[in-house]
Amino acid sequence: MADNNDKKYIIIKGAKVHNLKNIDLKIPRNKFIVITGLSGSGKSSLAFNTLYAEGQRRYVESLSSYARQFLGRIHKPEVDFIKGIPPAIAIEQKVNTRNPRSTVGTSTEIYDYMKLLFARIGKTYSPKTGKPVKSRVLQMLQIILHRLKQVQNYKYLRPLLPQKTELKNNS
Ligand SMILES: Nc1ncnc2c1ncn2[C@@H]1O[C@H](COP(=O)(O)OP(=O)(O)OP(=O)(O)O)[C@@H](O)[C@H]1O
Ligand SMILES: [Mg+2]
Repeated sequence: MADNNDKKYIIIKGAKVHNLKNIDLKIPRNKFIVITGLSGSGKSSLAFNTLYAEGQRRYVESLSSYARQFLGRIHKPEVDFIKGIPPAIAIEQKVNTRNPRSTVGTSTEIYDYMKLLFARIGKTYSPKTGKPVKSRVLQMLQIILHRLKQVQNYKYLRPLLPQKTELKNNS
């Protein structure tokens, strides 16, 4: 049975990358965690070279052997055991943009995928009535507009779409 701690923590045991002295660590998940310490104390060795490196390695391992041949082999970091590791992205300590509106989402380009995801799975609710916004056919719109007595005249406008060409069956 899966340990409940798997979902709550990332558990690292025996991290030995660079100067790390066989350290054990339990990092709470879904929390904002800061690793702090003197320069050269091993923060990057833990975050990038151990945690992120192992996450990437497992991700690559999960791909097909065909896909892996293009990625090269990622070596296992010097650590005894890591558990509960989610897919990760790493942004290194460099200023790669001067745009003040840049966020983690935009600089990693995840934002574009998030927009697409929310557009596809999201439900739109009217801010006025709180009811879900649905797409309606023209006849339905006409009935609704007729019911709204204050609307006397209306125009229905829509983009002109090219005629759909029929698929030719060549077989
Ligand atoms: N690629 C490497 N190969 C061998 N040793 C390394 C490598 N990268 C870092 N080290 C050594 O590991 C130790 C920890 O370095 P690390 O970069 O993890 O520290 P840090 O806490 O991130 O420092 P900083 O605050 O300067 O970023 C240092 O002694 C460093 O010289
Ligand atoms: Mg560092």
